[in-house]
Amino acid sequence: MTTLLHFFLFMMTIQLIQLYVEAIPVQSRCDEDQHSLLLQFKETLIFNSSYSSKLIYWNSSGIDNSSILFDLQHLQSLNLAYNYDFNDNGSQIPSAIGRLTNLRYLNLSSNDYFGQIPIEISHLTKLVTLDLSRNYIFDTQFNFKLLKLENPNLSMLIQNLTELTELYLDFVNISSAHGAHWSQAISSSLPNLKVLSLYYCNIAGPIHQSFAKLQSLSVLLLDYNDISAPVPGFFANFSSLTSLSLGSCKLYGMFPEEIFHITTLQKVDLSNNPLLQGSLPEFLNNGSLQSLDLSWSKFSGFLPKSIGNLKMLSSLVLSIAVSLDQSQTQSQT
Ligand SMILES: *[C@@H]1O[C@H](CO)[C@@H](O)[C@H](O)[C@H]1NC(C)=O
Ligand SMILES: *[C@@H]1O[C@H](CO)[C@@H](O)[C@H](O)[C@H]1NC(C)=O
Ligand SMILES: *[C@@H]1O[C@H](CO)[C@@H](O)[C@H](O)[C@H]1NC(C)=O
Ligand SMILES: *[C@@H]1O[C@H](CO)[C@@H](O)[C@H](O)[C@H]1NC(C)=O
Ligand SMILES: *[C@@H]1O[C@H](CO)[C@@H](O)[C@H](O)[C@H]1NC(C)=O
Ligand SMILES: *[C@@H]1O[C@H](CO)[C@@H](O)[C@H](O)[C@H]1NC(C)=O
Ligand SMILES: *[C@@H]1O[C@H](CO)[C@@H](O)[C@H](O)[C@H]1NC(C)=O
Ligand SMILES: *[C@@H]1O[C@H](CO)[C@@H](O)[C@H](O)[C@H]1NC(C)=O
Ligand SMILES: *[C@@H]1O[C@H](CO)[C@@H](O)[C@H](O)[C@H]1NC(C)=O
Ligand SMILES: *[C@@H]1O[C@H](CO)[C@@H](O)[C@H](O)[C@H]1NC(C)=O
Repeated sequence: MTTLLHFFLFMMTIQLIQLYVEAIPVQSRCDEDQHSLLLQFKETLIFNSSYSSKLIYWNSSGIDNSSILFDLQHLQSLNLAYNYDFNDNGSQIPSAIGRLTNLRYLNLSSNDYFGQIPIEISHLTKLVTLDLSRNYIFDTQFNFKLLKLENPNLSMLIQNLTELTELYLDFVNISSAHGAHWSQAISSSLPNLKVLSLYYCNIAGPIHQSFAKLQSLSVLLLDYNDISAPVPGFFANFSSLTSLSLGSCKLYGMFPEEIFHITTLQKVDLSNNPLLQGSLPEFLNNGSLQSLDLSWSKFSGFLPKSIGNLKMLSSLVLSIAVSLDQSQTQSQT
C-alpha cells in the first residue's frame, strides 16, 4: 500500500492532467476524406497557448467509441498518455481503437482507464510498441481499480501481436495467468521482445524455461510480483540486457553470479527479496554497471576490490539486512 500511495502522490505532482493527444498521420498529403476527418477532429480540441505551444488540450468530453479519432485509419502512431483526471470516475478503453489497424505505436499509459482490456487491441497486429501501463482509479472507498486481463487473458491479447518489441503493462492486473503461464504466453508469442515492463501486475508464478528464447531482451522489469522462485540462470545469456529490475518479487535461492558479467548491464535492482542469496563477483574492467541495489536481500561476502573497475557506477545501495562485510552502507560515488 505504501507503494500505491507513493504513486498516488507522484501522480498528484503531475500537472499535466488534461487530455492531450499526439497523433501522427502517415501520409504527408492526406486523402480527401482523411483531410476532412482531421478538420472535424480538430473541432473537438481546444487549444490553449498558456499551457504550451505544442500541446493541445482536449474538450473534457473525452474519447469514446464514437470519436472521429478512430476514423483516421492511416494512423501509425498514437499517444494518449497522461490524460489522468482526478475528478472523474475513470472509463473503459474504447474498443473502437481496434479499427486503427495500421498502428505501430500505441501509448495509453497514465490515464484513468480501468476494467477489462478490450480484445480489439489484439487486432492491431502491426504494433511494435504497446504501452498500457499505469492506468488506475481510486473509487469512493479509496480502493485501487486497475486494468485487467482476464477475458481476454494475456495470451489472447498478445497471441497475434508478433511484431511487438516493447510491451509495458505496469499496474495491469494479469493475476488470472497463474503459474508460469504468463511467461510462456510471452515467450511463445513475442520472440523479438526487447523491453518487457510488468511492474505490479499481480503475477503469481515463476519464469518458464521457454523465456530463455528471448535473446533480444534489453530491459526486464518485474518488480512487485509474486514470482516466488529462484532467478533463472539463463538470464546470463541475455547478451543485450541493460536493465534488470526484480525488486520485491519474493525471489529465493542463489542469484546466478554470471549475470553480473553481462557487459551491457547498466542497472540491477534486486531489493527487498529477503530470501535471495548471492555474492558479488569479481567485476570485469569493461562493465557498464551504473546502479546496483541489493538492499533487503540476503547477499553476503566481501565487497570485491574489483568493484573499482566499474567506472560508470553512480549508485550502490546495500542498506539493511545485507550481510556484506562492509555492509550498512549506502553510498553515491
Ligand atoms: C487557458 O488556460 C489558462 C490557465 O489555466 C486559463 O486561465 C485560461 O482561461 C485558458 N484560456 C482559455 C481560452 O480557455
Ligand atoms: C465539448 O464537447 C461537448 C459535447 O460534444 C460540446 O457540447 C461542447 O460544446 C464542447 N465544448 C467546446 C468548448 O468545444
Ligand atoms: C508513453 O507516453 C509517455 C508520455 O509521453 C512517455 O513518458 C512514455 O515513455 C511513453 N511510453 C512509450 C513506450 O513510449
Ligand atoms: C463519480 O461518481 C460519483 C458517485 O457515483 C458521482 O457522484 C459523481 O458525479 C461522478 N463523477 C463524474 C465526473 O461523473
Ligand atoms: C464500445 O463499443 C463496444 C461494442 O460496440 C461496447 O461493447 C463497449 O462497451 C463500448 N465501449 C465504450 C468504452 O464505450
Ligand atoms: C489470431 O490470428 C488467428 C489467425 O488469423 C485467428 O484465428 C485468431 O482468432 C487470432 N486470435 C485473436 C486472439 O485474435
Ligand atoms: C486482480 O484480479 C484478481 C482476480 O480477478 C482479484 O482477486 C484481485 O483483487 C485483483 N487485484 C487488484 C489490485 O485489483
Ligand atoms: C486464455 O484464454 C484462452 C481462451 O479462453 C484459454 O484457452 C487459455 O487457456 C487461457 N490461458 C490462460 C493462461 O489462462
Ligand atoms: C546459454 O547459451 C548457451 C549457448 O546457446 C547454452 O549452451 C547454455 O546452456 C545457455 N545457458 C543457460 C544457463 O541457459
Ligand atoms: C570484457 O572483458 C572480458 C575479459 O577481459 C572479455 O572476455 C570480453 O570479451 C570483454 N567484452 C567486451 C564487450 O569488451
